[in-house]
Amino acid sequence: MRGLELVFFAILLVLATLQVAISHGEQPLSRIAVHNTRLRLSENADIRASPSILGLKGQNSEWVTLEYASPNPSNDDWIGVFSPADFSASTCNPDEGSKQSPPFLCTAPIKYQYANYSSPGYRKEGKGSLRLQLINQRSDFSFVLFSGGLANPKVVAVSNKVAFTNPNAPVYPRLAQGKMWNEMTVTWTSGYGINEAEPFVEWGRKDGDLMRSPAGTLTFNRNSMCGAPARTVGWRDPGFIHTSFLKELWPNSVGNDLVFSTYNGWRRRGYWRDREGEGGFKEGERYTYKLGHKLFNGTYVWSRVYQFRASPYPGQSSVQRVVIFGDMGKDEADGSNEYNNYQRGSLNTTKQLIEDLKNIDIVFHIGDICYANGYLSQWDQFTAQVEPIASTVPYMIASGNHERDWPGTGSFYGNSDSGGECGVLAETMFYVPAENRAKFWYSTDYGMFRFCIADTEHDWREGTEQYKFIEHCLASADRQKQPWLIFLAHRVLGYSSGTWYAEEGSFEEPMGRESLQKLWQKYKVDIAMYGHVHNYERTCPIYQNICTSKEKFYYKGILNGTIHVVAGGGGASLADFTPINTTWSYFKDHDYGFVKLTAFDHSNLLFEYKKSRDGKKRKAKISPIPKRQYNPVISQLETSSHGDHPLSRIAIHEATFALTPLAHVKASPSILGLTTGQNSEWVTIEYSTPSPSVDDWIGVFSPANFSASTCPSENPRVYPPLLCSAPIKFQYASYSSPQYKDTGKGSLKLQIINQRSDFSFALFTGGFLNPKLVAVSNKVVFSNPNAPAYPRLAQGKKWDEMTVTWTSGYGISEAEPFVEWGPKGGDPIRSPAGTLTFERSSMCGAPARTVGWRDPGYIHTSFLKELWPNTVYAYKLGHRLFNCTYVWSKEYQFKAPPYPGQDSVQRVVIFGDMGKGEVDGSSEYNDFQPGSLNTTKQLVQDLKNIDIVFHNGDICYANGYLSQWDQFTAQIEPIASSVPYMISSGNHERDWPGTGSFYGNMDSGGECGVLAQTMFYTPTENREKFWYSTDYGMFRFCIADTEHDWREGTEQYKFIEHCLASVDRQKQPWLIFLAHRVLGYSSDLSYAIEGSFEEPMGRESLQKLWQKYKVDIAMFGHVHNYERTCPIYQNVCTSKEKHHYKGTLNGTIHVAAGGAGASLSPFTTLQTAWSLYKDYDHGFVKLTAFDHSNLLFEYKKSRDGKVYDSFTISRDYRDILACTVDSCSSTTLAS
Ligand SMILES: [Fe+2]
Ligand SMILES: [Fe+2]
Repeated sequence: MRGLELVFFAILLVLATLQVAISHGEQPLSRIAVHNTRLRLSENADIRASPSILGLKGQNSEWVTLEYASPNPSNDDWIGVFSPADFSASTCNPDEGSKQSPPFLCTAPIKYQYANYSSPGYRKEGKGSLRLQLINQRSDFSFVLFSGGLANPKVVAVSNKVAFTNPNAPVYPRLAQGKMWNEMTVTWTSGYGINEAEPFVEWGRKDGDLMRSPAGTLTFNRNSMCGAPARTVGWRDPGFIHTSFLKELWPNSVGNDLVFSTYNGWRRRGYWRDREGEGGFKEGERYTYKLGHKLFNGTYVWSRVYQFRASPYPGQSSVQRVVIFGDMGKDEADGSNEYNNYQRGSLNTTKQLIEDLKNIDIVFHIGDICYANGYLSQWDQFTAQVEPIASTVPYMIASGNHERDWPGTGSFYGNSDSGGECGVLAETMFYVPAENRAKFWYSTDYGMFRFCIADTEHDWREGTEQYKFIEHCLASADRQKQPWLIFLAHRVLGYSSGTWYAEEGSFEEPMGRESLQKLWQKYKVDIAMYGHVHNYERTCPIYQNICTSKEKFYYKGILNGTIHVVAGGGGASLADFTPINTTWSYFKDHDYGFVKLTAFDHSNLLFEYKKSRDGKKRKAKISPIPKRQYNPVISQLETSSHGDHPLSRIAIHEATFALTPLAHVKASPSILGLTTGQNSEWVTIEYSTPSPSVDDWIGVFSPANFSASTCPSENPRVYPPLLCSAPIKFQYASYSSPQYKDTGKGSLKLQIINQRSDFSFALFTGGFLNPKLVAVSNKVVFSNPNAPAYPRLAQGKKWDEMTVTWTSGYGISEAEPFVEWGPKGGDPIRSPAGTLTFERSSMCGAPARTVGWRDPGYIHTSFLKELWPNTVYAYKLGHRLFNCTYVWSKEYQFKAPPYPGQDSVQRVVIFGDMGKGEVDGSSEYNDFQPGSLNTTKQLVQDLKNIDIVFHNGDICYANGYLSQWDQFTAQIEPIASSVPYMISSGNHERDWPGTGSFYGNMDSGGECGVLAQTMFYTPTENREKFWYSTDYGMFRFCIADTEHDWREGTEQYKFIEHCLASVDRQKQPWLIFLAHRVLGYSSDLSYAIEGSFEEPMGRESLQKLWQKYKVDIAMFGHVHNYERTCPIYQNVCTSKEKHHYKGTLNGTIHVAAGGAGASLSPFTTLQTAWSLYKDYDHGFVKLTAFDHSNLLFEYKKSRDGKVYDSFTISRDYRDILACTVDSCSSTTLAS
């Protein structure tokens, strides 16, 4: 029981905070403080209304003129219209805010206007007049003059009563499609209950026999309302709502009588061939109908006569025209109830539709119908406004927040937007062919269209009843007959650039497209349309944030995705767009308007957006072939290029000879590493040339004899200098010799590392693009080029195993590699090492396979097992040559990891995208990687306070220039030889087209993962699939591989779930998820422009796992900056705390830490709700677990090593067990 309560509480908590940042403005009537009303009747005041009897000609709407006078006029005097007229007659409803003193005003007026509205002299003269439009609302009316403004209303005078001749008359018919295609429903309102009269519709084919169909009757009482104002001042008797079902209609047209003519390439309906006398209908032939009530005294009350045209047979080919919009609301033609420019477009939209009505077949008003917001009288006024439309064509509605949302009533969102109506009004006032009208989802066909209408105010996510309905609706359309498949919903479940969706960091209603895009794609939905955002926007055809077509106006053939449209500008006050221009947004309009679809036939659809102010259009034509294919391979997802590799600037293949005996290059010393066997040394280069130029440069080649051999077949070259390899580094000749360009003499100091071969230095003229070889230096070589170098530690597959990986020039046919190691000061033992290498043919493409190729030597890994926890070990690398001599590295040390769950202070450093930098300033280009050396320096300085390092992808940006991996392992040697250096795979390690990487770009420069897999050890099952789990004391790390598919159902997804699920949180409370690309949340500009704030399909796929298994922190790289979010789930912050988290987090904290070295990437200017701290600088993250209950998170800048952002988590085990939204499996009531 306790568990259930917690779950329930937590769900309420989250959905309450989901309450969207939009209010749509207030209902104008809510400005009036009805309960504050007092009496200030004055003998000298007066108000009169005329005429006092309305609708003498049977009409249900009439203008009334008011004349009034006051002895103390004021600018905020106002006129309220009350109905029933006797507004103060009864005591107030005892339940609802009873009132002790007269005037017992417990009801809001049905409309109001300022007394000086059309009488500017009112304040001086105390006299005014006003014209107001009244509609028949089943009761009489009175008009009251108030002083004291809306906040402190005082009744000054009350008018005579005004009434329609028959207040109970049947009014405002609205048509809707029934559950069958040949059924039309007519719903109307009257004052006749079933005890007074029998309601029915008399109808038939025009000029044919009439018949009568009975109507059902619904009503409801105050207790059906869920809260105020609907239950209090907004309540008004709704009368009776009748619905009649007109069945077995003849379709709008018959057989093949259509004659087409061609106009501008468009097939257009020509004319009907006259089939009179053969039983066919003529074009436009309609049914007539009128509403009737047979009173029990035998008399009849009738409405006027209306007409409609029956719907076409599903699949029938005829021109079919559909109008779609949301959020129209109502407006008052007399200017009353105007507030804050609320709903000013509503009347324009209505007017345009009425004017074009003969060219409209069906209307969809997709939610936010009239914004009554609990003031029930407004529903009558809305049905009166749309009567000309709704009485003539089916007026289909969807449910919006303003119809449905109310806390604790089963709505998906717990806000108060419905003003207490909680859906009752929408469900009753309009018919929809839903199975259960409280669940507002339904399917309806119109000829060649299939519409699937979702209800965003009820849960639509996978596994729900509604999700099943949506799938069934989409799947069951026969596309050969009904090619035009349209998805409709109120809130934006797809894509919107509306400001608040952008600020939520989602560009949609969170959980919208994550949940439904698979269905839209699988069933090839053509267009998905939404309201809720009060503007217009159209996207490209899109799937998973990627445009599937670049065409903007004339779609031919396969769309490959769904076009998403926001058409929420029907009338309510407009909503702004974010300034971010996303890649998928094709057209935006901050204005009122609506959409019209015209299906000319099974192959041609016209989409038009029209402005409400003038009815003019913007169009796009779609002519898809009904059968589309879905290609699941993602080829062009690249979002960030990270800049080019500096070596790629050099046009190696263009190199030519310009050797001259007058030029020379000299390098010294010529033997390196003599003093201590070191693997890194500075070399001085001196050079001179008779014809210097500012773009002359020095290239460092290794092997030294770079032009000796013929080039391999991958990059054939037949003329000398046979330069087939890129230099390993380069520098301008004038870099440290500014006089070089004048004197032709210069010198340079370069740092050289031991890379298993000799070196030469070449002077080039002609810049990088037309390199001409001028002179080559003497050779330089390390005393032992094959020496074991650059050890890097990594955790093994077991907690008590440390792996040592290093590089040497000794193959297994020359020497036996091993590690000699043991507790510091103890007896050493020797552990053998395995050896890996690879060939040029292992590379997937250029430059790795061509100019970037360089012999990788041999990569050895030894497994040091059965370590004692936290013990310091010494080790050195050894090779036993077959002549029985030994080659040794220097001695290194490491501390063994703690036992999993062991309580000790444990310190973890995490960053991504560090890359390498050159201390000699070489290979510098475009400020690439300026932070890399700083980060390395900070870590080396703090090394005694670091236990393990995670380099979260984009390791060295070698990008296919293999020599750079040696240089990277040399750069990090001080770190990686002392603490485990764990890597994950990034795009720059893995991506290459056609090689199984999830992304088909060329970021790895042809390495396709081979270098990363070989140069570093990771405790994966399969090193090509770079996901793994590793424990460090109280930490469990689950490392994902974003370059392979992670989505639900994949091998990796199963691994992630298993890694998260299999940790004993009592022993290992700190659960960290790592991945290179941002699968969570990032404000990086590239992700913002994609409109996703993440790698598309990231959090959609994984957030359920993070939440269920209570991941504390999810960390990413790829974006070259730093950012931290609130604890978050499904785009909603689950805690407002920013620095000191205590107890349950309820969500996961997401961190982008990709600023370790590569050139920085900018943020969007948009401030999302979830982004707590951003830094456009180089830096890294450090986690310190003090014990099982206290974790410290620090972000440090690389430039100074100081902490710029931090937070703590303090909690105990019970807090991890606590249930939060979606984190506990269902509980049982059994005891
Ligand atoms: Fe809405
Ligand atoms: Fe990356």
